[in-house]
Amino acid sequence: MSKILCQTDIGDIFDLFEYCFREVMRNAVEHGAGKNLVVFGQRWEAKGVAEIVIYDDGIGVAETLYDNEYIDCNNGREALKFAILPGISGVSRDERFSQDETWGNSGFGLYVTSRFCAEYGSFRMISGDDALTFSRGVQSEHKWSLPGTFVQLRFSVQSSSGQVSRINQIIEEGKSEFSNILVDFPIQPSAASKLLASHFEKEHVF
Ligand SMILES: Nc1ncnc2c1ncn2[C@@H]1O[C@H](COP(=O)(O)OP(=O)(O)OP(=O)(O)O)[C@@H](O)[C@H]1O
Ligand SMILES: [Mg+2]
Repeated sequence: MSKILCQTDIGDIFDLFEYCFREVMRNAVEHGAGKNLVVFGQRWEAKGVAEIVIYDDGIGVAETLYDNEYIDCNNGREALKFAILPGISGVSRDERFSQDETWGNSGFGLYVTSRFCAEYGSFRMISGDDALTFSRGVQSEHKWSLPGTFVQLRFSVQSSSGQVSRINQIIEEGKSEFSNILVDFPIQPSAASKLLASHFEKEHVF
């Protein structure tokens, strides 16, 4: 599907697509615990925009984070914000120690994809009763109702092309942000909101 959406299977834009696609699909399989996974792709040729949507009918993001030892998560809306923080994973610390070095969960998949897509298009995650959207530097939160988890990644093919190195920069920024937020352990919802506020402006709903 990355090949169809990019109209090529080589180069930066293909690598970026594959990276984002793989991270979100892995999440559905590794954390969702559902029975079905549906993937949609769409490209608007004239606008130079492509979109991937991944939906799983699993347990939802909040269920995987309530028992997490690093964070103090109390509801679905907080769970979405925690899930996209760097270094936060629903997989327990003990389990992570025994995982494969390359494919083990480090808690960076959603942090990187959400920041990258927000810079070059938009990112939306809906799980249970809540939705979180980032688009062109603006963050918005909504009530929604959807069993399972839905992630929408949309980005401009032209402007994101040549931006593969941005992924590594975002990972480096995430490592330093993770050590900063871990100072107050367990991490509070307000710390998650504050970190998001440093990246995004909040949409005001009147
Ligand atoms: N589809 C999903 N269903 C349920 N929970 C999810 C889903 N996607 C993400 N999560 C939750 O959000 C957390 C953060 O996801 P993220 O991709 O950032 O990290 P990870 O998958 O744990 O590690 P990595 O992506 O670095 O391998 C997951 O560990 C999981 O708890
Ligand atoms: Mg992941």
